Formats: sequence, structure tokens, C-alpha cells
Amino acid sequence: MEIKRLRVGGILLPSNVLMAPLAGYTCYPFRMLAYELGAGLCFTEMSSANALKYADKATRRLLFTTSREPVRAVQLLGGDPAVMTQMACSGLLKDFDIIDINMGCPVPNVFKSGEGSALMTDLKRAAAIIRGCKKSGKPVTVKCRTGIQKEHMFAAEFVRMCEDAGADMVTVHGRSRSMMYDGACCYEEIAQAKAAVSIPVIANGGIFSANDAEEMMERTGADGVMIARYALENPFVFSELTQKNRKKTTLQILLEQMELTASCYDETFTIGYMQKLVSYGMKKRRGTKKYKEPMYQCGSLEELREIIIQIFSDDM
Ligand SMILES: Cc1cc2nc3c(=O)[nH]c(=O)nc-3n(C[C@H](O)[C@H](O)[C@H](O)COP(=O)(O)O)c2cc1C
Repeated sequence: MEIKRLRVGGILLPSNVLMAPLAGYTCYPFRMLAYELGAGLCFTEMSSANALKYADKATRRLLFTTSREPVRAVQLLGGDPAVMTQMACSGLLKDFDIIDINMGCPVPNVFKSGEGSALMTDLKRAAAIIRGCKKSGKPVTVKCRTGIQKEHMFAAEFVRMCEDAGADMVTVHGRSRSMMYDGACCYEEIAQAKAAVSIPVIANGGIFSANDAEEMMERTGADGVMIARYALENPFVFSELTQKNRKKTTLQILLEQMELTASCYDETFTIGYMQKLVSYGMKKRRGTKKYKEPMYQCGSLEELREIIIQIFSDDM
């Protein structure tokens, strides 16, 4: 695919290959890794505006970043325009350059609260949230789906509303809410969304190889792609696409991830996060099944380090 820089509001992104927000994964260390390998923009996992308002400690931890992060984008989840505006403009987000609004989360509890993909059923409220977040003075982006039901998709209409309300970029996950995370990506709907607006449109959903990214670009005409689950399995997909930093091994990046995570968070968090990441990394590796149980039983970083070396030693 053609790699190009992308302008979002006043910010120039280094590439048009984006890392998706992923709850439980896109903490600061993972975002730094994705940037190092060529990602043009990474997001925090979704952070509930309500929880932030009530000073929830765990939610505030999701906002951890440093000035070393190339572009800092936070994703907010919420359905109340007043709370979203208040949080977007609050000092809590002072370190972030871009605010992304989650309008795609399909989870029943979130939907029932009028948040995430439920905003696709209420264009007026969604527009009020975008306008409110824009009061922060920062570029505002939206992540949405192609619709709620598979039989009635309306991505083009929705992104038009986003642009009219002031959004600086939209990412369309090419699945309806009813499809959750499975099923073939709806390229045509993304293509229609791209044709409907002049702000950048990013295509997401079902990219599980560099070739898939190529196909996504060809079939949608989008300005860039966003990769989610496959980047956990193979973060090198960013290097493959952008030709940046191709030399590291899986073992090297996992050990570096562990070190960086331990320097930013406590040991319990670091062990839990690394176990999930290693598990993704093992997915397509033959003969590694036997390590899975002992890896999950590791109680210290030293033990985990040893087992990571065993699993990925053929990488040295
Ligand atoms: C474990 C998991 C966590 C996710 N967390 C978020 C999130 O916090 N915010 C968001 O907008 N999307 C979230 N998503 C959706 C992804 O960003 C992405 O849209 C979806 O996985 C489709 O892309 P893929 O087919 O490349 O995985 C999540 C998906 C998964 C599987």
C-alpha cells in the first residue's frame, strides 16, 4: 500500500498505518512499540468519561503517557455531551494532542448506557459530543462502525454528520454492531463513507496480513488503515508496511516491552500484560503450546523473562 503522511487537524502523522485502540493492550509501552515499528498514530484504550469524572484510579492509569510518545491520542467513551465536553476540556487530558471518541463499542452494557455504538442511533447527541470535545481546541477524531444491523448500514450518512460537527478524521470499522468482531469486512460501506466526506477516512476491520491492508486500501479508497488484533500477534506488520525498523526480533521486542512496562507500572500489571502479549505472540508458533500453562503461572518478572527466552529463543 502507498505509505503517506496524514494530516489530522493541525497534526501531521508519520504514516497512514494506524494502531487501533484495544482495551487491555494499548497501554503506553505497546503504543511506543507500534510507533517504533512505523505506526502513524496509536490510541489509549477507551477511557470512560464518567469514570474519569469520578476520579477512578484505574481509569486514570489508562492515561499514562510521557513526552517521548510521538503523538498522544486518547480515546474517550461516553454518551453525555456535557460530561464528554467537561472531560475533553479538563486538565486530565492536558498531555494529549488528539481526542478520539468511541462510537463503535458493541458491548451490551455500553450500548444500553447510550455509549459507544449506541451513539450511531442518535446522530444529534453524537454531533453534540463532537462539538463539545472540539471546545478543547484539539483535533477530534471518531471511531464508528458501518451501522447497527447488518441489513441497514449507514456509514456514509454517519461520517457526514461527523464532518459537519467538526470531526478531523473518522475511522470506520467495516462491521455493524450486530456483527461484533466476526464476519467479512464490508468494504463497500467504507468506500461510500470515504466518498462522502473530505476529512481523512481510515479503514479498519479484518486486516490479518500486509496483503489484507493492501486489499483494504484498494477496495475502499481510504486514506489509511487501522490494524487491531493482528498487531498483537505480529507487531512487525507495521514494519512490513512502512519499511521502518525491520531488524528487531520478537524476543528482543518482548524483553524490551517487559522492561519498559515494569518501569511505568507495578509488577502485577506488568506480569498480566506481558502474559497476554506473549500469548498472542505464541499463536502461530509451532511447539510452543507446552509453555502456555507455565507462562501463565509465572509469579515474578524473573520467571517470566526466563520462559519468554525459552519460547522465543529460536529468534536470536
Ligand atoms: C480485545 C479488544 C479490545 C478492544 N478495545 C477497543 C477500544 O478500547 N476502543 C475501540 O474503539 N475499539 C476497541 N476494539 C475494537 C478494535 O479497535 C477494532 O475496531 C476491531 O478489533 C476490528 O479490527 P481487527 O479486525 O483488525 O481486529 C477492541 C477489540 C478487541 C478485540
